[in-house]
Amino acid sequence: MRVPFYDIKAQYDELQAPMDAAVHEVISSGVYTMGKNHGLIEQELAELHGCKHGIALNSGTDALRIIMDAAGIGAGDEVITVAFTFVASVETIVQTGARPVFVDIDPATYCIDPKKIEAAITSKTKAIQPVHLFGQLADMSAINHIADKHGLMVIEDAAQAIGSSYNGVAAGNYGIGAGFSFYVTKNLGAAGDAGLILTNDDTIAEACRSIRVHGMGRERYYYDHVGYTSRMDEVQAAVLRVKMTKFHEWNQRRERLAEVYLDILSESPVVLPIVSPGNNTTWHQFSIQSDRRDALRDYLKERGVDTMIYYPVPIHFHEPYQRFGSGEGSLPESERVSKQIVNLPIQPHLNVDQVAYAAKCVAEFCKQTVGK
Ligand SMILES: Cc1ncc(COP(=O)(O)O)c(C=O)c1O
Repeated sequence: MRVPFYDIKAQYDELQAPMDAAVHEVISSGVYTMGKNHGLIEQELAELHGCKHGIALNSGTDALRIIMDAAGIGAGDEVITVAFTFVASVETIVQTGARPVFVDIDPATYCIDPKKIEAAITSKTKAIQPVHLFGQLADMSAINHIADKHGLMVIEDAAQAIGSSYNGVAAGNYGIGAGFSFYVTKNLGAAGDAGLILTNDDTIAEACRSIRVHGMGRERYYYDHVGYTSRMDEVQAAVLRVKMTKFHEWNQRRERLAEVYLDILSESPVVLPIVSPGNNTTWHQFSIQSDRRDALRDYLKERGVDTMIYYPVPIHFHEPYQRFGSGEGSLPESERVSKQIVNLPIQPHLNVDQVAYAAKCVAEFCKQTVGK
């Protein structure tokens, strides 16, 4: 049996008629930027998360960088984040001129360990940027408590957490702004690159809207900020609005598949994902840990089950970022997890039989390799 990791084409197949119509409508309208769909997707996504402002952009990476620019973060500042993440969480901090300061993860949730944050705060710290990894929010009660105590801003890297919530409050409501990604493989994926900022802060929202279009102010060709070209284009906005009609259903399918994995693997000696109290995860990924990770991947591959590793090397080990870290051993959980984690297929176009088969292959591998 084949169990593909991603099947983006299947999303299109399910939505072909409305998708073709929406794209055709945009192309034939001649309005390709800042059109009807652009405004509506901002509104719909802000409403979905209970946030005041939605700002549609060309990527999740730009979302993070623009929030930091709008907040005035730059040279001489420090921003606390994690090294066990996608590089955009860190590169955007470096791009502003600020210094990323790495804090280790809690291996149970794969998100920043709040117990380790205070030791990393200095007089230069301006913000904490938790990453809501794999669809689950970081421990935002603890993080917001620390931020309030030390007068720090919080910026959510919510690229993988569209629609996720914690204690009933959605991502996007825990700081001065949150960056979301609609990269094709995300739970809500565009037909290319797209991203979003959500914020409840009027001043940040106004600055982000301006920075998105070259820093332009309310009048054309008058500039208030140094900005970028970062609008979400109208075709992407239209595609996302069509996919929004399936967003909850596709997340429910993910949840059902997660239950199948958790059930079949409950007795296997692998580390299963934990949904921490209060979290409502959207199962962007289903990650397990095995001390025979690479052999397990080979075993699954031979049986038609695709896997991925998010993330094989923590950011502080990569050459451009080494100068911001403290080398090997400085982030023990991030370093260990990178060697043991493997992500199993959980996309909404898999059926229960495919996932049960993948889970059984993992269980079989564990049985065969006991004591090895
Ligand atoms: C944790 C995290 N942060 C930031 C990003 C950047 O988003 P984008 O690829 O839309 O620029 C991603 C996307 O993969 C991500 O996973």
